[in-house]
Formats: sequence, C-alpha cells, structure tokens
Amino acid sequence: MRQLYPEPADVDLVEAYGRLDRTPGRPSVRLNMIASLDGAAALANRSGGLGGPADKTVFATLRALADVILVGAATMRAEAYRPARLDDGAQARRRGMGLAPAPPIAVITRACRLEWTTPFFTDAPPDQRPLVITATSAATYDRDRAAEVADVVIAGDDGVDLGRALSALGERGFDNVLAEGGPGVGAQLASSGLLDELCLTVSPLLVGGDAKRILEGHPLEPPTRLELRRVLTSDGFLFLRYGRS
Ligand SMILES: NC(=O)c1ccc[n+]([C@@H]2O[C@H](COP(=O)([O-])OP(=O)(O)OC[C@H]3O[C@@H](n4cnc5c(N)ncnc54)[C@H](OP(=O)(O)O)[C@@H]3O)[C@@H](O)[C@H]2O)c1
Repeated sequence: MRQLYPEPADVDLVEAYGRLDRTPGRPSVRLNMIASLDGAAALANRSGGLGGPADKTVFATLRALADVILVGAATMRAEAYRPARLDDGAQARRRGMGLAPAPPIAVITRACRLEWTTPFFTDAPPDQRPLVITATSAATYDRDRAAEVADVVIAGDDGVDLGRALSALGERGFDNVLAEGGPGVGAQLASSGLLDELCLTVSPLLVGGDAKRILEGHPLEPPTRLELRRVLTSDGFLFLRYGRS
C-alpha cells in the first residue's frame, strides 16, 4: 500500500489508520464506505462489486481496529453479513491491546424482524453475540425473539436514536465504533454530528445508473466540511481518510 499524502511512503495499514481517541462523552465513530468514480455506493444493490483485494485488506484492517461494528439492517441483509472473522495476526494484535479476538456486530433495526436463523446469528461465538439495536416501538414478541440470539439494546421510542445507541455501546466498553453503513445510517450519523472520521475508498469504476451515494437522506444543513488526513493508493483504488476539521 502506497501513501500519497501527507508524504509519499510505503505504509503499514494498522499504523496508517490506528484506533481513534474516544470522543468526549461517547465512543468515537469511523464510517468506512466505498464509492465508484461516479459516486455509486452499490452495484446491483451490493457494495462488493465495487471493491477488490486492496479494498478488502483495508476493510479487514479497520475491522481489526474496532471495538464494535455498527450497521443498518438493510446492509446486513443485502451484504449477507456474518460474524466478523479476522486472521491470526490481527487476533493476536487485538489480544495484545486487551480486545476480543474480533469485534461483535451491532445491527440497527426499527422493525426488529431479522432472519434469526441466518449465520449472522447462529455462527456467532456464544461469548460474542451480535447486538440488535432497536426501539420500544418494536413488538415485544420480536424483541423477545431477538434476545434469544443477540443482545438487545433499546435506544429510542419510534426508531433508534443514534446518539442513545452510541451511549449504550460506550456503556458496554466499546470506545471505537466502526460504522459500515449503509447510506441511511451514514447520513444519520453525519446529520447528528456523530461522525468523527470518514474512510472512503474510491473504486476505479464508472457504473452509471441511479445507485445511492454514500450518504442518503436529508441534505446536511450546512454541509459538513471534513479535513483530509491521509491518501493511500493500490491497484487503481484511492483510500481517503478524512477527519473532523
Ligand atoms: N458503498 C458502501 O460502502 C456501502 C456500505 C454499506 C451498504 N451499502 C449498500 O447500501 C444499501 C443499503 O443501505 P440503506 O441505506 O438502504 O440501508 P441501511 O442504512 O443499511 O439500513 C436501513 C435499515 O436500517 C434500519 N434503520 C436505519 N436507521 C434506523 C433508525 N434510526 N432507527 C431504526 N432503524 C433504523 C431500518 O431497518 P428495519 O427495516 O429492519 O427497521 C432500515 O430499514 C445496500 O445496497 C448496500 O449494499 C454500500
């Protein structure tokens, strides 16, 4: 992986990204997204077609640096999420930092009607069940069903309040949250001022069509300006790391 900015160098990805400092009062939030050259955040409703080996490496590195992964239910379904698995080196590094071998995944859902028998739930280690973050508006039956296979967090009345969700994650000792989208969740984080870092992979593809962008929702008023921290490149991809300005 070649760094182009702040200065040209060959870099170690773990050092190039590192863990974020805890933001006062809540865990820090890093959003990792990929977009095509023309701004599409998905190809045939999945992000995988935009990526490649270098992107997978960055994706895994960011997971290895996180305490917990946060994702919207539609992304979990579209991308057929499974429990996070890391290679032996990453697991050993995490143990050295006092972290679990892999971060659990927290899925945000209002309806709380997920497919409870998929590997996302059934393959998770017993000591690292997924988290389901939902609201009191979800039916008691659905919340009880979720609690059989996941740790249920109630963080809102009619829908999840992402600020409350982050506080709940912080109370569980998760200081570094890696958000993996989708564009709906990303937009809510940005519009609530809860985004500390955006890691954006620019894929060298033009795809056309009307796919979502990396944030989807109400316009940010005023637009949020971020500060460029790092630019890496490999195999025609750009890996941009932006922080709060
Ligand atoms: N380019 C990338 O890096 C990237 C990354 C991730 C995803 N994607 C793509 O983005 C698409 C999915 O993204 P999306 O924006 O449509 O959906 P999303 O943000 O992944 O999930 C939306 C769902 O999450 C739940 N949700 C979101 N906010 C909530 C809130 N405040 N309270 C309660 N529940 C909430 C709801 O689930 P329920 O319906 O269960 O209530 C909602 O339907 C897929 O095509 C995926 O491939 C691309």
